[in-house]
Amino acid sequence: MSTNKLRIGVIGCGTVANIGHLPIYHKSPLTELVAVSDPMESHLKHVQERYNIPKGYKNPEDLLNDPNIDAISICSPHWAHAGQVIRAAENGKHILCEKPIGITLEEVGNMKRAIEKNGVIFQTATQKRFDLGFQFLKEKILEKEIGNIFHTAISWYHSMPDLGLNPSQDIIQEAGLWRMTNEKCGGGDLLDHGPHYFDLFRWWFGDVKSVSAQIRRINQNRLNEDHCTVLLSFRESDIIAVFERSEAFIGSLYGEEIGRIHGTTGTYFFDVPHEYFLKPMTIKKRFRKTKTSKLLEVETTFPKDRWNISYAREVRSFINQVLGRSNEDVGFPEEWIPTIKDGRAGLEIVLASYESQRTQNTIQLPIKDYKHED
Ligand SMILES: NC(=O)c1ccc[n+]([C@@H]2O[C@H](COP(=O)([O-])OP(=O)(O)OC[C@H]3O[C@@H](n4cnc5c(N)ncnc54)[C@H](O)[C@@H]3O)[C@@H](O)[C@H]2O)c1
Repeated sequence: MSTNKLRIGVIGCGTVANIGHLPIYHKSPLTELVAVSDPMESHLKHVQERYNIPKGYKNPEDLLNDPNIDAISICSPHWAHAGQVIRAAENGKHILCEKPIGITLEEVGNMKRAIEKNGVIFQTATQKRFDLGFQFLKEKILEKEIGNIFHTAISWYHSMPDLGLNPSQDIIQEAGLWRMTNEKCGGGDLLDHGPHYFDLFRWWFGDVKSVSAQIRRINQNRLNEDHCTVLLSFRESDIIAVFERSEAFIGSLYGEEIGRIHGTTGTYFFDVPHEYFLKPMTIKKRFRKTKTSKLLEVETTFPKDRWNISYAREVRSFINQVLGRSNEDVGFPEEWIPTIKDGRAGLEIVLASYESQRTQNTIQLPIKDYKHED
């Protein structure tokens, strides 16, 4: 084993580890994948063989206690994140943690204290910021290319197959269906997917002021919600944001993800192909040169290759952060890399949405005395 590379461990060897973390560490000349952990033997063996990883731990504690690991990715189910982050921080390991970074604000508070006390780097894995198309929009918003923004709306659908009322434990484990069936999750589809766009909204438009939500469970074979609309207002502007998200939609599995940003002199329309594939994102700008001139449209596409997809730029930024290198090779400013504060804010908006549905009120942020359940 060479000693000058960053020594990486990955906890949880399912979908996101295989798509968004392991292939990047494997390819990076700066890192060495030394260990993986997963309680599921088949997932562990699969990634050890695929990426030639010497150590495989069934118990994540063993990876967290391994002194030969400098930095880790946490890709386990939501409920395991907090404990694993705290243990990693106590053992001096830097952390890239999947969203939602925790399921309660209290546990995120404990994570933050452990990170600060032990001086480790923590990055929230909300990779949409690193998508070249979304970064382009951030830059254009800062330039005020379409004037003052006043509205944004996202419609994001996946169509999940109906697995009947009692899917087998094998299917649940193999296909990651714990997110629909396990009480420990702390929430349903909104908790799973909301943090992505709530992170983008905050990055683009600043802190959220209030949250109002309507949340439903359409498919009864889930424990929690599979359909929602969330309305946000912002502290420093009058922008309205609408987040519409569903897994109850009938259509193709990977569904659709489309959005709009309206400004006083133009509109951006974006069509986001599923992140697991390499199809380019397209952004259309519609605008008039003067108030009375004809409507013009400019289309920009953002081609993807495996080294520049959002996940790759996220993981490469984490590696650079930990090594204290400039992030110029990624082309993503260091100050935009998502922190624990960003991860916490995304979770807070999800929890405020649940509170809004429960009370049928608009919830002002920061939320106080949040009760997790009825
Ligand atoms: N950023 C993204 O785009 C993105 C995409 C998918 C999932 N995620 C997040 O990543 C996490 C994992 O989701 P997934 O889709 O990869 O799930 P998955 O079920 O495909 O993989 C999770 C793996 O963790 C293992 N596991 C279960 N309990 C564990 C524990 N206590 N410690 C370690 N490993 C454990 C499972 O056996 C499984 O192999 C979730 O929090 C999810 O929200 C993020």
